Formats: sequence, structure tokens, C-alpha cells
Amino acid sequence: MALEIKHLLGLKDVSKSDITQILDAADKFYEVLNRENKTVPTLRGKTVVNLFYENSTRTRISFEMAEKRLSANPLNFSASGSSVSKGETLRDTVQNIEAMKIDMIVVRHGSAGVPKFLTECTGATIINAGDGYHEHPTQALLDMMTIRQKLGRLEGLKVAIVGDILHSRVARSNAWGMTTMGMDVTCCAPTTLLPQHTESLGVKVTTKLDEAISDADVVMLLRPQLERQTHGLFPSVREYRTYYGLDRDKMKLMRNDALIMHPGPINRGVELEAEAADCPQSVILDQVTNGVAARMAVLYLLGGGEHE
Ligand code: CP
Repeated sequence: MALEIKHLLGLKDVSKSDITQILDAADKFYEVLNRENKTVPTLRGKTVVNLFYENSTRTRISFEMAEKRLSANPLNFSASGSSVSKGETLRDTVQNIEAMKIDMIVVRHGSAGVPKFLTECTGATIINAGDGYHEHPTQALLDMMTIRQKLGRLEGLKVAIVGDILHSRVARSNAWGMTTMGMDVTCCAPTTLLPQHTESLGVKVTTKLDEAISDADVVMLLRPQLERQTHGLFPSVREYRTYYGLDRDKMKLMRNDALIMHPGPINRGVELEAEAADCPQSVILDQVTNGVAARMAVLYLLGGGEHE
């Protein structure tokens, strides 16, 4: 069965059937990645441009690895070092790259809506690798893949997302995707780090950490995105850590079998202490491993492949 979507711009309007199909394909690619020969010929002859206008470690490297594992030709573009510094617009940049005959564009940009804009000015398939505060759909897919792999299901599980919800595209994509999959999501943050009308994402909201994490199957921490804050939204890092940072004492409020997740990069000593980041309940590096398989699934299915 082919996906209903033609581009992956976000998870807001992606159906349960499409998400399930991507997660099932990701599980198959996970098996491929554990073989001695980790490469398949699926996207041979296709060219994928990784267009990054914002910094990235995990997303950028795992997309490039996923493209290579699928035998596609990856081309990497960074705004720094390009003709963007000479004043070339996004539209001109993309249309010039498209003129070199490419098939897909993976785009990260600081402005919400750029992936949608690219669908209107190019004929390439567009995959959102993070746009402003808006969405980061492949992160949410790899997060759901990791939860399903560890806990065997998604439906009915309780997830607490704790931290800078206001600036987090990861929180938004997870809220849309997880609620579509029948999960019970609670967002927890100080009032200043919660967007207006957070409940419109289909989630519960609290400012109290113990209320969010005490019966959660999954606790996902997010870092305060200081680079996106124009003025102080909490009194001090020390105070934030006291109320919202996960350490050994606050872990005692959690169930013993709850998973600890974080999309990275971690600010150790702020939202997560080492004893929580590196404990047996932490699946943070499994998330990174699964990022390659989840991105292979998205590239494969949007590239015309079907999951049986
Ligand atoms: N999780 C995530 O998007 O990390 P990067 O910014 O390093 O890609």
C-alpha cells in the first residue's frame, strides 16, 4: 500500500494508517541495519539534497546515512559557505539545485512553513527535518518507533513531555503523532514555556512535574532552547533544574519501568542529570540508532516504495 501523503511536512494531518506503515517499514529497516550488509538497492539512481539552514548533528548525519544505506546519492547543502551569504533567496537556491535534476529535498530551516513553501516552488518530494517551532516529524516517528520497540505497543500508553514546549517542534510533532496513535500525552513546563492553548494539540497540560511523571510509561525531557528565547522565560537555570530537571531524587517519583527519552542535544545538569541520562531506563541512544531506520522508511515510502 502506498502512503496517502506525497511529502512529509509534519504529523498534524498524517493518518494512523500512514504512521503505522512508516513504523512497520522502519522495523524492517532496523533488521537490515543489523545485518552484515546494511545496504539495499531501493533508491538507486535517486538524488536527495540535504538542505540545512540550521545546525544539526543527529538529523543531518542520520538522513545522510539513511540515504547511503538505500543506495541513493546524497548531496549536502549548508547555508554557511553557500551563495545565501551573497543574498540568494531560498526560492532561487532551491530552483537552481532542482535544475541539476534532483528527486527529493530534506530541509531544516529556522522558519516555520519553509517545507510547505518548497512544495509550491519545486517538483521535488519534500521532507521536513525541522522548521522553526513548527514540526520535526521524523524525530517523532523515531520516538514512536523506539517506544513501540521497547514497550510493544503505542495505544493507551501515557507519555509525559517535560520542558520547553513553547519552542519545541519535537513536542508538537510528538503531540500530533502520539495522539493520532491513541497515546495519552501530558505536556509539563513552567507557564512561561507553554504555548497559548497547548490543549489544542490534544494533550493534557500541567506545571507540576510529579503530576506529569508519576504514572507515565515514558518521560521525555526537552532542553530549554535558550537560542530561541529573546528574553528570560525562567528566573535562572538553577531554578529550572530544581523544579523540572530529572535527577536521582525526581526519578523516585517515576515508575521503575518508565522509559527516559530525550531528542538531543542534552544539556546535562539542566533538564537531565547524568544519573538519569545514562541509567538503564534511558533509551536516548536507541532513539539515535532508530533515527536511521525511521528515516530510511520515510525516504523509501515517499520515494515510491510500498510496505507490504
Ligand atoms: N534531535 C535533533 O533534531 O538533533 P539535531 O539538532 O542534532 O539534529
